[in-house]
Amino acid sequence: MGTISNQTDQWNANLYDNNHSFVSNYGESLIDMLAPSKGERILDLGCGTGDLAKRLFDQGVQVIGVDKSNNMITQAVEKYPEIPFFVQDATELLFKSEFDAVFSNATLHWVKPPKQALQCIYNSLKTGGRFVAEFGGKGNVQTISDAIYNQLGSDTNKTDFPWYYPSIGEYSSLLEEIGFKVTFAHHYDRPTPLEGPNGLSNWIKMFALSFFNGLDERKLEQVITKIENQLKPSIYNGSKWIADYKRICVIAIKE
Ligand code: BEZ
Repeated sequence: MGTISNQTDQWNANLYDNNHSFVSNYGESLIDMLAPSKGERILDLGCGTGDLAKRLFDQGVQVIGVDKSNNMITQAVEKYPEIPFFVQDATELLFKSEFDAVFSNATLHWVKPPKQALQCIYNSLKTGGRFVAEFGGKGNVQTISDAIYNQLGSDTNKTDFPWYYPSIGEYSSLLEEIGFKVTFAHHYDRPTPLEGPNGLSNWIKMFALSFFNGLDERKLEQVITKIENQLKPSIYNGSKWIADYKRICVIAIKE
């Protein structure tokens, strides 16, 4: 039996496309906020398997997609060979004043240190260019994280917390320190249905496995069942799990 361990690429691109399409579906409204014009050069930062980059491409945008995960980029290239996709870490971007906009959907809560990523984003933009992003904010999936810690008990290693969930004040300050003008910032609840009765288990296996490093697969299943039992009264509505997502949405301009 295998043991859950830190992998260099934790992302399963097929699972992502099959069970978590809601991630890019929610991104559609972020495209509305981006309001792309034909011919603009736009970087899709954390493009996953490329679905939103494809929407931009179809609107006449010169889009480039980057993601840290080789698995995601391989799948993006297979699905949309007409779009340039590259494996790149958001904290190590080398673009210099190339883009009219940097767009990022449901990615930046994975990226640490956040200020280094923001500096790279700033450097990638032309003067006057815009940064339009949506990601997890303070309190995001707190109910689920608390239940994971509660059920792991002494197996918990708090230093493994994989996400960065800032408050709006903290993130706006970081943006201003880099030199951005923040023109829009919103922190809001977005209860998010997970697909099917196994939605919570699938979500944990897709996104939260790092909490379970060192556990064997049988123990993992046992802990997940306990988490489900704990959370059923609060976030299961009889047919679906509803995750307590809290989002930050920002627009900032490079001055
Ligand atoms: C999010 O989009 O907020 C998210 C996704 C996976 C894990 C944690 C947060």
